[in-house]
Amino acid sequence: MTKAEKQILVTAAVGACARAVAPYSNFHVGAALRTRGGEIITGANVESASYGLTCCAERIALFKALTEGHRDFVAVAVAARRDGGATPCGACRQLLSEYAPQATILVVDSAQPARIRQFTMAELLPAAFLSVPGRR
Ligand code: THU
Repeated sequence: MTKAEKQILVTAAVGACARAVAPYSNFHVGAALRTRGGEIITGANVESASYGLTCCAERIALFKALTEGHRDFVAVAVAARRDGGATPCGACRQLLSEYAPQATILVVDSAQPARIRQFTMAELLPAAFLSVPGRR
């Protein structure tokens, strides 16, 4: 991915932050996946009065993308208003390691989207669980 393509994906994640439904935490997270074909699918966190039902932005974006038929992801951008941005939670790391193992994870503070922190899935979740060894 070029620097410009990364910036476009980050901009999509920052835009998705504005669509978060987070009345309890007021912590707005946006995520954007880029497919190998260059399509971008976004998501934002959605919270519930029964707090445990809350779903993170990364999983919303991933579930949207998967159920729209996308399978091959090259990058995921995550944006939130926090210094340095917010890296994906453990649950999201598990799902991303299963469905986007090759993806580069781009993390930004939505107030400073030009400063991108970049990770591989193996860095975020080493020795990831696989139900069938060697198979994703
Ligand atoms: N959240 C995300 O959307 N992604 C993460 O990786 C961590 C947390 C959301 C869940 C909840 O709505 C809010 O941030 C505060 O935890």
